Amino acid sequence: MKETILSGMQPSGELHIGNLECALRNWARLQDDYNMYCCIVDWHTLTADYKETGVLKERVYQMAVDYMSAGLDPEKCAIFVQSDVKEHAELHLIFSMLITVPTLTRLPTFVEKQEQKGLDSYGFLGYPVLQAADICIYNAHKVPVGKDQEKHIWLAADIAKRFNNTYGETFIEPKVLLTPIPLIPGTDNRKMSKSYNNHLPIAATEEDTTARLKKMYTDPEKLRKNDPGHPEKCPVFQLHRIYTPGAENDIAPPCRTGELGCVECKQKLAANMNNSLRPIREKRVELEKQPDYIWDVLKDGGNRARKTAQEVMEKVRTAMKMKYWK
Ligand code: TRP
Repeated sequence: MKETILSGMQPSGELHIGNLECALRNWARLQDDYNMYCCIVDWHTLTADYKETGVLKERVYQMAVDYMSAGLDPEKCAIFVQSDVKEHAELHLIFSMLITVPTLTRLPTFVEKQEQKGLDSYGFLGYPVLQAADICIYNAHKVPVGKDQEKHIWLAADIAKRFNNTYGETFIEPKVLLTPIPLIPGTDNRKMSKSYNNHLPIAATEEDTTARLKKMYTDPEKLRKNDPGHPEKCPVFQLHRIYTPGAENDIAPPCRTGELGCVECKQKLAANMNNSLRPIREKRVELEKQPDYIWDVLKDGGNRARKTAQEVMEKVRTAMKMKYWK
C-alpha cells in the first residue's frame, strides 16, 4: 500500500519559477511513489481576498494548467478544487473546537499577515485549521511543503492527535516532507513572490524572462565586469545552481577571478532557464487550448477526492458518536 500525500496552493495568480522549482516539480516526482492529492485551495484565497471573487474561476483554471504542464498527471494524482469537496469545510468546523485562539494568534504566519495587511477576520484566523482539515480529510501521511509551512503541518498533527485522544484513534498525524529546493531568490534578492514583483513567471515569454534576469540584483561588490565576485552571495548564482549543470565548476571560478562578468553570466542563465522551461511552456500553450478537458480533469479529481473524504468523515462522525442514522 502506497502512503498518501497531499499538497495545495492558492490560486492567487500567475505562478513563478519559485512555485515550479520549490513545489510543482517536486510534486511531479512524488506522484509515482505516493497516493497523491493536489488541491487548488480557493477557500484559503478568500481568507485574504474575499472581495475579488470574480477572478477565481480563471485563476483556478490557470492553476490546473500550471499543475499539469509541470508534469502532474491526472491519471496518477487527483487534481481538484478545495471548494468542490465540501467535507473540507465540515472537518474544519470540527477541528476549530480542538484548537485555542491564542495558539492561532501566536503563529508567525498570522502575525506577519496581520501586520502587513491588517487581516483580522475570523476566517483568516482559521486559515491553518482549514489547512489541517485539507490534510487530515485524506489521512495524508506526509505533506510536501517549504519550510515556511512547517508550523502549519505541526499544528495539523497536533489537532489530529487531540482528536484521537478525545474521540479515539481516527487520524494519522501528518509529517512534513520538506522540498529539496527550499527557497528561490527573486530578482531583488528577496524571496521570490508575486507580491514583491520580483518574480519570473513560468508563463512568460523567453524574451521577458531574459529581460527580467538582465535587471536582477547581483553581488554588490562586483561593480565592474572584471571585479572579483562572490557567487555564494549572489542570487543569480543560486539560480545557476538550479539551471546550469556544472555551475560550481564553470560559473563560480571565473566569477571569483573576475573573468566572467555579470552581463554574460546572466545571459548564460537566461539561456539555460529558458531551455529548461521550454517544454513546460509548450505544454502550457497546448493545455490552455482545451478548457473542456481541464475542467473535466478537475471534476474527476474532485469526485475521486470526495470519495475518500466522505469515508473519513464517516469515521469522524462514528468516533464522535454523531452518526444518528444508519
Ligand atoms: N498554506 C499553503 C501555502 O500557503 C497552502 C495550503 C493550503 C496547503 N492547504 C494546504 C499546503 C494543505 C499543503 C497542504 O502554501
